[in-house]
Amino acid sequence: MKQPAASVASAADIAAASAILEEGGLVAFPTETVYGLGADAENPAAVARIYEAKGRPHDHPVIVHVAPGADLDHWTTDVPEAARQLVQAFWPGPLTLILKRNPDIPDAVSAGQDTVGMRCPSHPVAIALLQAFKGGKGGVAAPSANKFGNVSPTTAQHVRDEFGMDAHDDGALNGGEACSAGPLGMVLEGGSSEVGIESTIVDMSRLATHGPVLLRPGHISAQQIADVIGMLPAAPDQAAPRASGTLESHYAPRTPVTMLAAGALAETLGKLHAKGIKVALIGHALPSALTGAAHAQRMLPADAAGYAYGLYAALRDMDQTGAGLILVETPPQDAAWLGVNDRLRRSVFGSAGVIETLLQS
Ligand code: TXA
Ligand code: MG
Repeated sequence: MKQPAASVASAADIAAASAILEEGGLVAFPTETVYGLGADAENPAAVARIYEAKGRPHDHPVIVHVAPGADLDHWTTDVPEAARQLVQAFWPGPLTLILKRNPDIPDAVSAGQDTVGMRCPSHPVAIALLQAFKGGKGGVAAPSANKFGNVSPTTAQHVRDEFGMDAHDDGALNGGEACSAGPLGMVLEGGSSEVGIESTIVDMSRLATHGPVLLRPGHISAQQIADVIGMLPAAPDQAAPRASGTLESHYAPRTPVTMLAAGALAETLGKLHAKGIKVALIGHALPSALTGAAHAQRMLPADAAGYAYGLYAALRDMDQTGAGLILVETPPQDAAWLGVNDRLRRSVFGSAGVIETLLQS
């Protein structure tokens, strides 16, 4: 996997960001999955600012991020042994566990539910921030740092684009950006997120009655989880806790997005081209002869991890090309691609029938 870029937040940036959090402000920070929009998880007014900045419905809980070695019992209660085994195996890393919330923790982070999502990210800047904030004893509530329903950010520039901020050019803060206006106190720099799609979420809060439940697929697979705890996480049922990443429509660019298998792509592309409709293409295995009729194109790696790393940046970039349609070559459907296909399915959800509509216009 690719490493974060050299330009990362300095110790001074981290200290400044930690101070902003302790004062109840918002800080965007890199994680290995996507950038997060953080606030003090134990300060309900600060958590409310996240919802305001994102335009996020109030019934969608946020994940609490903690430093390596944090005291899980401060945040949660009735933690099953299997959950501790997952912590041991995968933290720091891209796995979020839904556990019973310690009643002493304000329910602002869990939108009133009796559970809480816990995650310990592995990105060095995220770890440094979590270790600085409240001396490593705090928790940072953080959803992805995008407006609700949009594509998640995998670079600091994506975050600035999302919140309409200009790059700070006085050089005072090298790897971070202090913002005098707007909802974000600071954006910490940390290169491109190496995983590129959000963490795997497993509900361990109803283990005795429902077993482990996979609420959101990600880089850590259900099989990897089963290998550690001897139980394969099931698909969500009706009673499973809500997760906004599981809404039918999510991760959507402004331009309509649709998927087509490689075989059907050439003909459709030709028809759209003949109609003068600009198409931005995202592929992974297409022969280059096929892409000639595209207005813009991005070829992603043909392995699931490499594809996930580039997916959100590709969607954002293709969204900027002025194309009338983003056409994605359908990825492979095997287990390794579950996280990618889950995100793409939600990206295309609002665009059903778009090709027919464009060809009839
Ligand atoms: O990789 C990630 O998880 C990123 C980075 C920033 O850590 N965060 C992220 O947060 O994706 P967000 O808010 O965009 O997605 C978190 C998901 C939401 O679908 C939310 O509903 C679900 O986690 N969630 C959080 N707490 C929950 C809880 N107590 N019960 C059920 N779902 C929960
Ligand atoms: Mg999100």
